Amino acid sequence: MNLLYLLLISLFLSSCRADPLGNFCNENTNISSGSRISVNIGRLLAEVVSKITLTGYVATSSGKESDRVYGLAQCRGDVSSKDCSSCIQDAAKQIRQRCPNQADARIWYDYCFLRYSQDDFVGQVDTSFGIFYFNVENVSDPQSFNKELGDLMDNIRSEAVMPKNEGLGKGKSELSPFVTLYALVQCTRDVPQIDCAQCLAIAVGNFPNFCNNRKGCRVLYSSCYVRYELYPFFFPLDSNSGSSVGKTKVIVRH
Ligand SMILES: *[C@@H]1O[C@H](CO)[C@@H](O)[C@H](O)[C@H]1NC(C)=O
Ligand SMILES: *[C@@H]1O[C@H](CO)[C@@H](O)[C@H](O)[C@H]1NC(C)=O
Repeated sequence: MNLLYLLLISLFLSSCRADPLGNFCNENTNISSGSRISVNIGRLLAEVVSKITLTGYVATSSGKESDRVYGLAQCRGDVSSKDCSSCIQDAAKQIRQRCPNQADARIWYDYCFLRYSQDDFVGQVDTSFGIFYFNVENVSDPQSFNKELGDLMDNIRSEAVMPKNEGLGKGKSELSPFVTLYALVQCTRDVPQIDCAQCLAIAVGNFPNFCNNRKGCRVLYSSCYVRYELYPFFFPLDSNSGSSVGKTKVIVRH
């Protein structure tokens, strides 16, 4: 009886676990699994997992000289510390499964991002690798939609670069009594405000290429995250249920 109960709970929990939105394993940084670098990656990940709940952000390094690895982990600023912690735990596990022999690896979830490398990338803006998710459905009135989207993006982008907001901007805009647009942008906390602004500008600048007139879209870079939807997706969740989530597709750009 108890065993069955436990089994059901664990099935429920595992099905609740979100899959990564994407990952990047740099195949020019191959290492062997027993190497000192690999051991240092393991130590780095353990440290990240143990420290993430404090502030939702960790930038650290492990090891010395040529075996040193740098790591960064960050949760979306609106996510609870519990969800943040479980996201980073998943990320630490999945990144090693997906990139078992690479010293430069990155993994993206909706609630968090994790990255490590032998290069000291912390503080440097990076838009070299991008993942784009878009809703397959299009809005019915592109002209007014894009105007509202642009205005909302401008507002939350300027919010994100205010020091007190630690790289996060979010907001909503009522397009009609029945339709609300929700948007969130976030930079990793290591990048200076000017570079945060640049990362967000590149992401939004890619809207015409990947998000053109779509009902929802996400741009995922190593230094920033941009998302808009016609349904509530950030916390605190709006009670307004909005339109349905719909089907999404993904494009990966290197
Ligand atoms: C790294 O390893 C992968 C297989 O895991 C292989 O496909 C790739 O060619 C290797 N890269 C280099 C530069 O040797
Ligand atoms: C949305 O528009 C694109 C072209 O911009 C088109 O390829 C696609 O089929 C449209 N989607 C739907 C569901 O009509």
